[in-house]
Amino acid sequence: MTVTYDYAGKVVLVTGGTKGIGAGIARAFLEAGATVVTCARTPPPSFGRAAGGAAGGVRFVRADVRDPDDVARLVSGLDRLDVVVNNAGGPPYAPLDGTSPRLHARVVELNLTAPLLVSQQAYPPLKASGGAIIMIGSASGTRPSPGTSAYGAAKAGLHHLARCLAAEWAPEVRVNSVVVGLAATESAEEHYAGGQEAVAATVPAGRMATPEDVARVCLWLGSPGYVTGAEIHVHGGGEIPAWRHAPSAGAPSES
Ligand SMILES: NC(=O)c1ccc[n+]([C@@H]2O[C@H](COP(=O)([O-])OP(=O)(O)OC[C@H]3O[C@@H](n4cnc5c(N)ncnc54)[C@H](OP(=O)(O)O)[C@@H]3O)[C@@H](O)[C@H]2O)c1
Repeated sequence: MTVTYDYAGKVVLVTGGTKGIGAGIARAFLEAGATVVTCARTPPPSFGRAAGGAAGGVRFVRADVRDPDDVARLVSGLDRLDVVVNNAGGPPYAPLDGTSPRLHARVVELNLTAPLLVSQQAYPPLKASGGAIIMIGSASGTRPSPGTSAYGAAKAGLHHLARCLAAEWAPEVRVNSVVVGLAATESAEEHYAGGQEAVAATVPAGRMATPEDVARVCLWLGSPGYVTGAEIHVHGGGEIPAWRHAPSAGAPSES
């Protein structure tokens, strides 16, 4: 079965679409016919110009999603808006004890407050088009996330924000979360300190998610439908509980 999407005439904003998962999402919407706009703090070399430009058909606007003025400028520069993918985000490894409160505040700002800001600014044009918001969430927001506690807590908040906005803005604007598990991006090898293959083997699906796996779900959630306030898990079956790896675990008998 082949599923194709026609986003011709639609405008899609993907925050942080210059690399990693966001670049995959931007590419997928572009291939489906959309006009795609992305933003980041730094234009990648391929975009050529310092403050704006286009590469591979994706329009780039320099904007920090934590800055309300940047977000207002970003959204007001669009003629229309049909889909927003709140993708910009990420977790520095920062155990709570011994790291600065400012660092943790910035992490919450990027992963929770910024998607709220972008969604708020995008609401009027999305309401006019009957559009959709997609939050790129994380498995870290659904289970303990040692070493990235502020990130995990912010992502849990993000999933909940999506549920709240889905109810607040229905029926005009649909709001959903894509909850991503372990993902293979350009930075994965560095992130897992060279152990990417071993980490991937712990996923029931036998591999990490690719940006394309995430993008496919975004194409579906961005198209007209009934689903709102939902979380779609893209984690290849999830993470196996650590106790299963204990040498004495044997055949499980507990329920
Ligand atoms: N990779 C994973 O394993 C994984 C797993 C679960 C969930 N996720 C989620 O998926 C999303 C993408 O992750 P990724 O690994 O693909 O990230 P990535 O490769 O680090 O890319 C992040 C993107 O966001 C942009 N960005 C960062 N801070 C920004 C800011 N303040 N304002 C505007 N843009 C900003 C970056 O560009 P600049 O730095 O130039 O601004 C870049 O384009 C994140 O929300 C992350 O939490 C990732």
